[in-house]
Amino acid sequence: MSSSLKNLYQDIILDHSRNPKNFGLLEEYDRKANGTNPLCGDKVTIFLKLVGNVIGEAKFDARGCAISIASASMMTEMVKGKSIDQAKSLFEKFTSLVTGQCYKVNDLEELETLSGVRDFPTRIKCATLPWNAMVAAIEESDEEVKTE
Ligand code: FES
Repeated sequence: MSSSLKNLYQDIILDHSRNPKNFGLLEEYDRKANGTNPLCGDKVTIFLKLVGNVIGEAKFDARGCAISIASASMMTEMVKGKSIDQAKSLFEKFTSLVTGQCYKVNDLEELETLSGVRDFPTRIKCATLPWNAMVAAIEESDEEVKTE
């Protein structure tokens, strides 16, 4: 990756971590799930409001590192207006990208900026924490999602 692209990626991640989109509680929601990373103690809660089979609203509340906040911010932006199946498919693609199973995936847009975490195993968990919580919310899992 060129250094200018790397810088652009870093700027996008920093911007999302400093000014996260969809940050806060959703008063009226249909699905909610909590996730935690036991290694650092960081936590995320995902709230989803459904319109039929479509995610009408997505918000998150979190105490976490820049990567986890940026990932949650981009993820909530991305899944709004998507069907539940589309959101699950994005989860699969994102997970493949950041774990290095796949180096080029379509449809992830800004989320591709997080691909660099694949070289840092502990950071992969930071990036995937909000996604695992989102899938738990979709599947109405009552158990807190853990990265370990
Ligand atoms: Fe805790 Fe990233 S350091 S989630």
